[in-house]
Amino acid sequence: MAASVKDVAAVAGVSVGTVSNVMNRPEKVSLAVATRVQAAIDQLGFVRNDAARQLRAGRSSTIGLVVLDVRNPFFTDLARGAEDRAAADGFSVILGNSDEKADREATYLDLFEVQRMHGVLISPFGDITDRLRKLRDRGIPAVLVDRTSADDSFSSVSVDDIAGGALAVGHLLAKGRRRIAFIGGPLEIKQVSDRLTGASTAVATVPGATLEVILTDGLSVIAGREAGAELVSRDPARRPDAVFAANDLVATGVLQALIMQGADVRVPEHIALIGYDDIDFASAAVVPLSSVRQPSALIGQTAVEILLEEAADASLAPRQIVFQPELVVRESSV
Ligand code: RIB
Repeated sequence: MAASVKDVAAVAGVSVGTVSNVMNRPEKVSLAVATRVQAAIDQLGFVRNDAARQLRAGRSSTIGLVVLDVRNPFFTDLARGAEDRAAADGFSVILGNSDEKADREATYLDLFEVQRMHGVLISPFGDITDRLRKLRDRGIPAVLVDRTSADDSFSSVSVDDIAGGALAVGHLLAKGRRRIAFIGGPLEIKQVSDRLTGASTAVATVPGATLEVILTDGLSVIAGREAGAELVSRDPARRPDAVFAANDLVATGVLQALIMQGADVRVPEHIALIGYDDIDFASAAVVPLSSVRQPSALIGQTAVEILLEEAADASLAPRQIVFQPELVVRESSV
């Protein structure tokens, strides 16, 4: 099998990005590193793929990142991880916010194509596999962040959200809660439907436990506040004894509604609450929030690493990296 850029990097003991610099931007590397990489190229008989290189010629040293909601600290932490990793190899990151809207998402992808981005990272709203294929055919690789690729045709870096949902609800059940409510939406967002699947699986293991699904039209503090206000308006006997919110923004809104003056609901005594992401505000909430932690910055870093590798060697097979979520228990659920 022909040697790849990855093989050269391994033999030279440098990153794929450095090998790419030696070949395309030699002024960026020291003579010692360039000599080591050249020796590895000679040793392996590596021949660069000129067709792919020419396709990519003229691309900028900028990576485009599209996130679902720029107000969500989960995505700003992810963007920060991507930016730090990209900067280490001399790349910049341009951030686009799809705002969970397919048309905005499409506009950013068109822009990134026209701008000949070095590559694209995206947390997609819908199924955009065909659009990403077109980008790749034009020499612009793409890596999905926070989502798996439906048919494994693109690399992705995500978190096991089914396991995360099961972890959150398993914790509430272990604390003796039996009337669980899931608050979040829309279910078109795969992360949300996966978390609900995990929650349902956990509830099904405990006889007598129930799961009420309260759908929201977005994952915001306001959506959480509205759902929480509806719970407060109910007869206490009809309220759940625990809430699993699809992310920490929703959980924060639910918490505000439950503990506001006059609501007369105590967290966690009457209703235990857990969110998802473990953003910084989770620990800073009036009642510190339990959450399911995702390694947001690491997702961004890892995605950039894979993207740079794929930009340097278009023959690399797509990879699916799935991190495991972690339960963080605080006052809101104990
Ligand atoms: O945007 C969807 C959600 O997925 C975010 O809130 C964050 O939890 C991400 O994982």
